[in-house]
Amino acid sequence: MQLARHGEMLAIEARGHSLARRDGIGAAARVGLRDCGLAGDDGTLEQSLAVDDQVVGLAAQLLTKLAHLPPGLEPEQLSTPTAQGDRYDAVDRRMHPGYVGESLLDHPVDAGLRVLPGQITECGQVVHHIAERGSLDQKDAHRRWTEGACRIAESADYSDSALAAACRTHSGLSMKILLTGCAGFIGMHVAERLLARGDQVVGVDNLNDYYDVALKQARLARLSTSAGFRFARSDIADRQAMAELFASDRPDAVINLAAQAGVRYSLQNPLAYADSNLLGFVNVLEGCRQTGVRHLVYASSSSVYGGNQKLPFAETDNVDHPVSLYAATKKANELMAYSYSHLYTLPCTGLRFFTVYGPWGRPDMAYFSFTQAILGGRPIDVFNQGKMRRDFTYIDDIVEGVIRVLDRPPEGVPPHALYNIGNHEPVELMQFIDILETALGKKATRRFLPMQPGDVPATYADISALRQATGFAPTTPLAEGIARFVDWYRSYFA
Ligand SMILES: NC(=O)c1ccc[n+]([C@@H]2O[C@H](COP(=O)([O-])OP(=O)(O)OC[C@H]3O[C@@H](n4cnc5c(N)ncnc54)[C@H](O)[C@@H]3O)[C@@H](O)[C@H]2O)c1
Repeated sequence: MQLARHGEMLAIEARGHSLARRDGIGAAARVGLRDCGLAGDDGTLEQSLAVDDQVVGLAAQLLTKLAHLPPGLEPEQLSTPTAQGDRYDAVDRRMHPGYVGESLLDHPVDAGLRVLPGQITECGQVVHHIAERGSLDQKDAHRRWTEGACRIAESADYSDSALAAACRTHSGLSMKILLTGCAGFIGMHVAERLLARGDQVVGVDNLNDYYDVALKQARLARLSTSAGFRFARSDIADRQAMAELFASDRPDAVINLAAQAGVRYSLQNPLAYADSNLLGFVNVLEGCRQTGVRHLVYASSSSVYGGNQKLPFAETDNVDHPVSLYAATKKANELMAYSYSHLYTLPCTGLRFFTVYGPWGRPDMAYFSFTQAILGGRPIDVFNQGKMRRDFTYIDDIVEGVIRVLDRPPEGVPPHALYNIGNHEPVELMQFIDILETALGKKATRRFLPMQPGDVPATYADISALRQATGFAPTTPLAEGIARFVDWYRSYFA
């Protein structure tokens, strides 16, 4: 029974391909060791618990059959059977815990134990450490580790996220995160993920009426069912309210997603951008500085690249020519964060999001308004005669990237990092419309129009820097993501 649970825990790591769950395993191992009276604070143990993101990410993708293989590497090379029929991770030639987890689930206990000793990465090394320190044989060492880890599993309602959350909480890894824009599209999804892994979230939003407030309320209602969530209705542009919030809550980390979004609206109401994106952002920076926040992650945008011709867009490209005020405020945020990083050693990471889409999305974005129009039998406005390309990025991939970044504050001088976060697979607008029509089972009537002021013809993210730093690798094909959006849309508006 215990071993079955242990197997499940390992399998969760591999299947979940998420940092939260990965940390859950690491945390479980730590608490397991402590409970066994074998915990040490030596660096070797820490090292043995460390996980190589690239390896875990790749193995997880393989298990979910969504691998983007590194160039020159064939699938058969990645999983090399040995005489015993064990599977090894080709990247570091050691058996990956995910496979062990699967073995444990699929085999009786003894068979599971036979494949374990010395063969797996971090978990195997933990067992090895226990054995060495406690002068135990591998089998006893493994049993003791498992018992400790299972105690945590039993203390929670047993499910993937409950387990991960319990592990995180018990091991003191959980954080208090102040998340602005929590009732927004990306904010809600990020908050859900943080709460699921056992972090506390103080969510800030002013619930403005830029789009349907009922949708924001509905997102908030989802978050409010979680005990770790607290909502503070506040405007980030309100200096005093923000100073008080920071002082009373003293968050470990901050994720700033609150902003006046949308390129087109910035031509109509520029002052909304000045208030939320400029004044509001300084208030967030000040709050971080005053309370010694460990890491600020903030939203920038692909729109900073303006009409740049060179594709894909890379962080090293010149972005001094914004074609909308929205883009100018996002570029300003990057500069402001850099200066705080430089002056006050505040660790900051900016993320340039590329056209994020998915369930609970934003009604002002094309995929959402196209869906409304097509289902309502109205024509859709196709700008620039359809000659546009967008690097659509699915929300779950974005959340994965945000969490990976959050857990790795930059350590350079100054501690500031800036990454593109996109799908690295731009799609022609006309092809996008075809995909949407298929998902909806209904044809669109297209109304072709000229390019809109402030818009850009193409976006395409070079994501190699983020991949290098965190192992980030988006996995959701557009057709799948759009189908999920359409499912949500139909049920939400049913
Ligand atoms: N969705 C995308 O494709 C995309 C692309 C590039 C950048 N971004 C950026 O990512 C962030 C999140 O975007 P989103 O798509 O979730 O947008 P969203 O509009 O759904 O979410 C933003 C949330 O912030 C809140 N907000 C706005 N101004 C505020 C203020 N002054 N005080 C408190 N709350 C305020 C809004 O009420 C909203 O709930 C934004 O900064 C946006 O500019 C998004």
